[in-house]
Amino acid sequence: EKKIVIAIDGHSSCGKSTLAKSLARELGYVYIDSGAMYRAVTLYALRKGLFLNGQPDREKVISRLKEIKITFDWDEKAEKNTTFLNGENIEEEIRQLEVSQNVSPVSTIAEVRHEMVKQQRENGKSKGIVMDGRDIGTVVFPDAELKIFMTASPKIRAQRRYLELKEKGLEVDFDEILQNVEQRDAIDSGREVSPLKKADDAIVLDNSNLTREEQLQWSLNKAREKM
Ligand code: C5P
Repeated sequence: EKKIVIAIDGHSSCGKSTLAKSLARELGYVYIDSGAMYRAVTLYALRKGLFLNGQPDREKVISRLKEIKITFDWDEKAEKNTTFLNGENIEEEIRQLEVSQNVSPVSTIAEVRHEMVKQQRENGKSKGIVMDGRDIGTVVFPDAELKIFMTASPKIRAQRRYLELKEKGLEVDFDEILQNVEQRDAIDSGREVSPLKKADDAIVLDNSNLTREEQLQWSLNKAREKM
């Protein structure tokens, strides 16, 4: 059996990481959360005050990129990924709304993307990985053996994210989440540098009406065809 690279791209909050993690567990692959990397840079920029009038100060962010080291710990059995920023566990903090609201502008900075893509490619060298994001099939791994493009209606996505955050005991407002989902889609799809778009050879998975198990089985079948 050949080890492959699986690229999962798509809109915000449509369950990419949930599917990617269960695929990685089933196949014994490494899971890499590329969005967590952009979130980590955003958290760093917020903490260091590298924002001006609510927008990232591009020059400042770029000049401090080299201070940022992002690492992961992937626990396959628990299907749990932990993100570290310069050795500090930031997994919880990068999921907060403040980071979600500022990450898309940070992700439009070409130099930031360049650095992240370099690190993502290093991670993928050994194959046997599942990576999720926005530009994995188009830019990071254009030769990935399997590319899945996920989507679902904005309302369904916001509803899922709402329940997920509420379960964690966080105070959340549905409209604010829906707005964030739609805003991120617009920025991610409209930006100049590696916008979110389906790779020509990606297969679409609209999971509006699919259970997690159905999505997993569908993807496993697609993956096994490529192995
Ligand atoms: O996947 P997640 O929602 O955690 O990603 C957070 C944000 O990071 C996205 O809204 C997008 O702006 C950015 N991102 C990106 N390219 C990736 C992954 C994430 O621009 N490959």
